[in-house]
Amino acid sequence: MVELKSPAEIARMRVAGRFVAEVLTELRALARVGVNLLELEAYVRERIHARGAQSCYWDYTPSFGRGPFRNTVCLSVNDAVLHGLPFDYALRDGDVLSMDLAVGVDGWVADSACTVVVGVAAAEDLRLVRATEQALAAAVAVALPGNRIGDISAAIAAVAREHGYPVNTEFGGHGLGRTMHEEPYVPNQGRPGRGYRLRPGLTIAIEPWFARTTDRIVTDPDGWTLRSADGSRTAHSEHTIAITPEGPQVLTLAA
Ligand code: MF3
Ligand code: CO
Repeated sequence: MVELKSPAEIARMRVAGRFVAEVLTELRALARVGVNLLELEAYVRERIHARGAQSCYWDYTPSFGRGPFRNTVCLSVNDAVLHGLPFDYALRDGDVLSMDLAVGVDGWVADSACTVVVGVAAAEDLRLVRATEQALAAAVAVALPGNRIGDISAAIAAVAREHGYPVNTEFGGHGLGRTMHEEPYVPNQGRPGRGYRLRPGLTIAIEPWFARTTDRIVTDPDGWTLRSADGSRTAHSEHTIAITPEGPQVLTLAA
């Protein structure tokens, strides 16, 4: 069942969203050559603690992971794209780092992700990162009352196609609000005009992610980290948004 949120509830999600956006902005600046992923995890853990917020990841035990997740941020490097388990690794020049963060503040949740290239970026890696950002922007633009989930999905896939990137449909966006994962599912590929009808009060996370040359993923032996099956590099961009009568509102923006 899809739960629509009131304007007051959306305002509370925006508070969580602002916090998530602030921490991601800080992580963008912190992610330099030589910085260890475990330092980034420790940083996020402390920020969440100091804010009196709740990690949506800590102890999360979804079907797609092994046992409770004991970290507060997903850090996925190069061919790793989703659910990256932070580990003892110092970032290297040219690494592509995706950072995904979901946090609850006073019972309301927001989820966002971004991808940065550490140090000197390869042109092809920047193109991949920008493609996920463009796909996210295109998807948000069609998140209007009366449109359907399929319009969002098709907008994402169209940008991928323009760039020649294949699309995986196993993991995509999702409703959220009281918890991180609620209905409806928001695939990264679909048919315009199909699926659940968008209406004011619907809150969803939209999260295009692409691998350069494959639509297949494999799970790392760590039981969590999802990697491109062919080892090609990947990128991921995500925002939490609300559908309102005035149009889409991005909730995961820093003030
Ligand atoms: N934030 C991810 C998403 O966008 C979920 C990560 S779940 C975790 O759906 F357990 F791996 F952290
Ligand atoms: Co998400």
